[in-house]
Amino acid sequence: MTDVPAVTANEAGSLTVRDNRTGSEYEVPITDGTIKAADLGKIRVSEEEPGLAVYDPGFVNTASCRSAVTFIDGDKGILEYRGYPIEQLAEKSNFLEVAYLLIHGELPTKEQYDNWEHEITYHTFVHENVKTFMQGFRYDAHPMGMMMASVGALSTFYPDARNIGDPDNRHMQMVRMIAKMPTLGAWSFRHAQGKPYIYPDNDLGYTANFLSMLFKMSEKKFEADPRLVKALDVLFILHADHEQNCSTNAVRSVGSSQVDPYSAVAAGVGALYGPLHGGANEAVLRMLRRIGKKENIPAFIEGVKAGNEKLMGFGHRVYKNFDPRATIIKKACDDVFEVTGVNPLLEIAKELEKIALEDEYFVKRKLYPNVDFYSGLIYEAFQFPPEMFTVLFAIGRTPGWLAQWLELVQDKEQKIARPKQIYTGDRQLDFVPASERWK
Ligand SMILES: CC(C)(COP(=O)(O)OP(=O)(O)OC[C@H]1O[C@@H](n2cnc3c(N)ncnc32)[C@H](O)[C@@H]1OP(=O)(O)O)[C@@H](O)C(=O)NCCC(=O)NCCS
Repeated sequence: MTDVPAVTANEAGSLTVRDNRTGSEYEVPITDGTIKAADLGKIRVSEEEPGLAVYDPGFVNTASCRSAVTFIDGDKGILEYRGYPIEQLAEKSNFLEVAYLLIHGELPTKEQYDNWEHEITYHTFVHENVKTFMQGFRYDAHPMGMMMASVGALSTFYPDARNIGDPDNRHMQMVRMIAKMPTLGAWSFRHAQGKPYIYPDNDLGYTANFLSMLFKMSEKKFEADPRLVKALDVLFILHADHEQNCSTNAVRSVGSSQVDPYSAVAAGVGALYGPLHGGANEAVLRMLRRIGKKENIPAFIEGVKAGNEKLMGFGHRVYKNFDPRATIIKKACDDVFEVTGVNPLLEIAKELEKIALEDEYFVKRKLYPNVDFYSGLIYEAFQFPPEMFTVLFAIGRTPGWLAQWLELVQDKEQKIARPKQIYTGDRQLDFVPASERWK
């Protein structure tokens, strides 16, 4: 092991690094449990050679920012927004208040909340041309693609949004986006069904209005059961932020070019569209349907343990004890099914969870139900088709994206995102014109 460089942490909060290529030693300061990649760049063999860099595909062990928005302790199953535990927010707050908290950093006074609610409600309508734009999509367009395109298109309706240095302007765009996302999401749903788009009903609260835009037909007013409104509101809260996940990183990365926030959030919607990020709950439903009845569970579990497939909705990159969101969702399931009638898949899900949690294979690997294990069942109870699941996620995540974007544009340490690469291609080839190559 002689070629392993000597790296020792000392009490003064620094690393002493010896570069065995040159024998030189470097003192690298440690701050907040991290070292600066730029400090490693000073370690070099010669002035002509590039400095040492870190190779970290997927940013598995790289901090890209300082953030005061969301705290996660995966081992202990802790999730906090601005220091407040998710359990308390889900039980005692509502989505608009949580959105305020994420963006402003503290809970609103009564006056601040009333203003915030008024502002958001006031901006739920979109320009009629947005409607025409959305109607231009093919009849079978995926609602997430429609959502991504229409959020991006909002930047053309509000060209002043590019003035990101002005705090009032930033505030206005954030209000608009939180207000209009349910309108865009509901219309993308109606589009796929060939039903007329429903305008916002500003007498209703945020989530109740969303349900009205989704499901209203010829009735004068659509008022969903308050238990359903509450359950969906809780789901929005649970999805509102999750620190530096793939879509948030996309928002920050695109936002770092100082583009307007609509374009940055459209990038976040795009990232969320991918099956590795927003799509696991749909896979859970497919799995439960395939299992079909409780008697088939043991054979299914054996197949998972034999490595034939995964138990979808179990396991998490960060949570290795339990996913606090899963516990809250399980409770919301009961509330929703009280209204809609029980989905027979719920019984299979609960039994599957019980068996897996007692099984050595899952216990040893610290595999617990994650947020997606039960969320698909709830969405299905609302009669959402699976394509809508990520749209709901995007509406919930919007305040988080915006809070992170706001933090980014105010952070003096941030620069345009521009990772390094390790070049593995050819060099200095001589170009042969087509006329000679194709002879
Ligand atoms: C979420 C997930 C990608 C996290 O992956 P990860 O942190 O990289 O964990 P790993 O893939 O290294 O898994 C560690 C071990 O547990 C096993 N494992 C992980 N998730 C599993 C699952 N859902 N079912 C069965 N085995 C699983 C792996 O096979 C591995 O076993 P091994 O040590 O014998 O090789 C993974 O747990 C998963 O694919 N879950 C199912 C999909 C899902 O629900 N995604 C939604 C996440 S919110």
